[in-house]
Amino acid sequence: MRGSNFTSAQKRKAAERMTQGLRGIVVFLFSVSGIVNVLALTGSFYMLQIYDRALSSGSIPTLVALSALAIGLYLFQGLFDVIRSQVLVRVGARLDKRLAPLAHQVAIDMPRFGFSTAEALERGRDVDTVRGFLGSQGPVALFDLPWMPLYLVFVYLLHPLLGALTLGGAFVLTLLTITTEIMTRRWSGATHQAVIERNAIADSNARNAEILKAMGMARRAVGRFDRANAEHLKLQTRTNDISGSFGAISRVLRMILQSAVLGLGAYLTIQGELSAGAIIAASVASARALAPVDLAIGNWKATVAARDSFRRLKETVIALADLERPMPLPAPHRSLKVEGITVAAPDSGRVLLSEVGFDLRAGQALGIIGPSGGGKTTLVRALIGIWPVLRGSVRLDGAELTQWDEEELGGHVGYLPQDVSLLNGTVEENISRFDPSADPRAIVAAAQAAGIHEMIVRLPEGYRTRLGPQGAALSAGQRQRIGLARALYRDPFLVVMDEPNSNLDAEGETALTEAIQAIRARGGIALVIAHRPSALVAVDLVAVIQNGRMTAFGSKEEIIGGTVRRAPPGEVASASVPRARPIATERVPA
Ligand SMILES: Nc1ncnc2c1ncn2[C@@H]1O[C@H](COP(=O)(O)OP(=O)(O)OP(=O)(O)O)[C@@H](O)[C@H]1O
Ligand SMILES: [Mg+2]
Repeated sequence: MRGSNFTSAQKRKAAERMTQGLRGIVVFLFSVSGIVNVLALTGSFYMLQIYDRALSSGSIPTLVALSALAIGLYLFQGLFDVIRSQVLVRVGARLDKRLAPLAHQVAIDMPRFGFSTAEALERGRDVDTVRGFLGSQGPVALFDLPWMPLYLVFVYLLHPLLGALTLGGAFVLTLLTITTEIMTRRWSGATHQAVIERNAIADSNARNAEILKAMGMARRAVGRFDRANAEHLKLQTRTNDISGSFGAISRVLRMILQSAVLGLGAYLTIQGELSAGAIIAASVASARALAPVDLAIGNWKATVAARDSFRRLKETVIALADLERPMPLPAPHRSLKVEGITVAAPDSGRVLLSEVGFDLRAGQALGIIGPSGGGKTTLVRALIGIWPVLRGSVRLDGAELTQWDEEELGGHVGYLPQDVSLLNGTVEENISRFDPSADPRAIVAAAQAAGIHEMIVRLPEGYRTRLGPQGAALSAGQRQRIGLARALYRDPFLVVMDEPNSNLDAEGETALTEAIQAIRARGGIALVIAHRPSALVAVDLVAVIQNGRMTAFGSKEEIIGGTVRRAPPGEVASASVPRARPIATERVPA
């Protein structure tokens, strides 16, 4: 993942953990494949014995005994074949079990680092690809290939010329496999990228279905998807064409080769150098020798896809390599210190906010105002650790955010994002942040603090009401208040609200003011971004953020009243600040 820097030892450890215990299984599968391949010589031996012994002696008992023996060996071969494929399926399931949660975790992390959600979700699909491949014929071919020499030796022992012919055939087919690999490798990366792009468009269209319908954009949206899909299909077709053609060539070559072995065998028999049984035996053995090559070519596309997926997953796991989990720290209860932070967008690296610093003590509430695009949301993203800071630091009770364990820190933080984004679950689950051991009293308390308890109990299933994706079952104002309840759940020390009143009615705004007062009264810290002053009733401090800088910071009376304190050192000189309402939307003279 972009921006991660781990030591090579950590990377190695992470990659090793992923394939832990697999080496033993690979050795086992290799041995089982050896047994399967030795047993697969049964057919050839049977032919040899039938022609050279049973037919020449005319003995029925010999024929019966040979046949019984052959059937027994075939059954064994089948048994080992079954064992092998069952082990492979289980290896696939085991890898999946290990990788799927990791891949999902990275999917949650990736968008922060500038990846599209479609690209992030692709990691989950990679797990499916690897598991699917392990359950297919592809790996069987790979395990059979190393045993090819067994058949070559067998044919060689029948007659050196036949051995040479089969070896030559194997060589040509292997060359063909390598050519396929080289020809398709170039396209497989591009094809994968095309799939991601197509899925990203599909994802965004599905999300914005209402807009597309309302403004007659649906047909254009489908067109956009169609173009992306056409690109994907073009690349896919090209890859399929290559592997399909090579597959056909290899099959034809194999048939020619098999007949050539028969022909050469016949010639050698006429010359008196070979028995009739040996012709058939050689033909069967050489066919068997080349079968895995054919199978490998046939499965090449899937093999390449699985290999690429596995490589991506490995990189993913490496990116997630656990750094030492930070030591648990006592719950913060004193201060939030922001020391000259500079924040850049994770994807583009563009600096969006520079040199912002202020101190807040327990019991204080800060209102953040300023024009659209000024950097308010950027600031709070850095304050709660969603975006990393380039320079400077954010400290809770003196400890930098990076010293906190992510999950632990999350328990001390309440965040109401600008677009509320509820998860697909019940009201109860959303408020309790999907805590399986949530205390119902804490949930109700949070709902009451957000002033939404009455509304929830009026819902058909109360707290158990399912919200659907993005909280679709609720109105925008209701969603915002459930988001507020989620931020207030279990009284976190730091509560950050990004325009919490953008969809609230008068009653909701009163609840918000009371919630901020309650946070202050219990010794927490509240941060409120607001365009509408009604959200700032309960705050005591106000900061002005514009053009990526903090141009003013002081008590509410000072800032909104008009007497402006100088911004902390390192800031641009004091700026004049809008006096009239609405506070933040007014352009501020430079
Ligand atoms: N993910 C991102 N990648 C790159 N630039 C971004 C990203 N998010 C925001 N920006 C840019 O950062 C600047 C500040 O955005 P931010 O969301 O912090 O503004 P804001 O003050 O919260 O505005 P608003 O009041 O409209 O919510 C904007 O110019 C925006 O274009
Ligand atoms: Mg914003």
